[in-house]
Amino acid sequence: MKISVKVPATTANLGPGFDCLGMALPIYNTITIEETVLPGTGIEINVINNSTNDDDLLLEHIPMDENSIIYKAVELLYNSIGQTPSELKITVQAQIPIAKGLGSSAAVIVGGLLAANELLGKPADEAALLSIAAEVEGHPDNVTPAIVGGLVLSSQEDDGSIIYRKLNWPEDWTISVCIPDYELSTDISRSVLPEEVPMKDAVFNEKRMGMFIHALNTHDKELAKYALQDRLHQPYRMKLVPGLDKIIENLKHEEDVIGCVLSGAGPAILVISSRANTDRIKSIVKDTWENMNVKVNILTLPIENEGAQIIHE
Ligand code: HSE
Repeated sequence: MKISVKVPATTANLGPGFDCLGMALPIYNTITIEETVLPGTGIEINVINNSTNDDDLLLEHIPMDENSIIYKAVELLYNSIGQTPSELKITVQAQIPIAKGLGSSAAVIVGGLLAANELLGKPADEAALLSIAAEVEGHPDNVTPAIVGGLVLSSQEDDGSIIYRKLNWPEDWTISVCIPDYELSTDISRSVLPEEVPMKDAVFNEKRMGMFIHALNTHDKELAKYALQDRLHQPYRMKLVPGLDKIIENLKHEEDVIGCVLSGAGPAILVISSRANTDRIKSIVKDTWENMNVKVNILTLPIENEGAQIIHE
């Protein structure tokens, strides 16, 4: 038996929503799990580059991290029903750039889990899958939209369960994902974050997070401009993302720009704007990075409202 799952990329945090806000985007990894016929062959994991932009996907960076997290996710699912995985061939057809802040690890965790769950006859419901996925990833903000699609506010509770709600993304807010040619692993990007933050910074984010949700509900661009700022992670990550401070500064007075934030743990940058014509924004981002000898690939994308899908072959 062979099961494939198509999983979208995700961008997390969106400014003030550190570790709780995430959105699915239409770039996909397809994860296939097959029971091998030869006993004793164990688990084999292969990754195939399906990206149209070779700079985005350096395959030599995939095996260690991605393989071990897929395995961990699949193993946790099997263990949850008292079994151990064996004799599986897992293939990842990857389009989502690795180590750029676009949820490539969340996609393989979710794909592996959903495919294995299907193979086992669906022992786990959505709540159980969300909980295992967030446990493997360490936070729920990428895995939740990867599973359910759309823009999602999520929280992993002390008992491991996930509470989430989908939010509406205003149709006329344009998303440009700016992907530099350098990589940044989430582990490194999390290692620079402090254990504790000043109360005033926590309050700064709390106000903006509430305002951002209201801005989304009321399509209030001015409020969103105020809200799309962060003091919990971006300031600490600035030094790991050369160009972020300059890009934010250079876009600050652009009328169409609603916000410019780090995508997940970076280094990709998300620019939210109020017009579909993003040429000026793109050229500002491009020029800023190119002046620092950084090549950039900019994709203007709609939100992906569908989460991971089982592909019936
Ligand atoms: N919320 C996570 C972080 C997302 O910022 O580290 C990682 O993709």
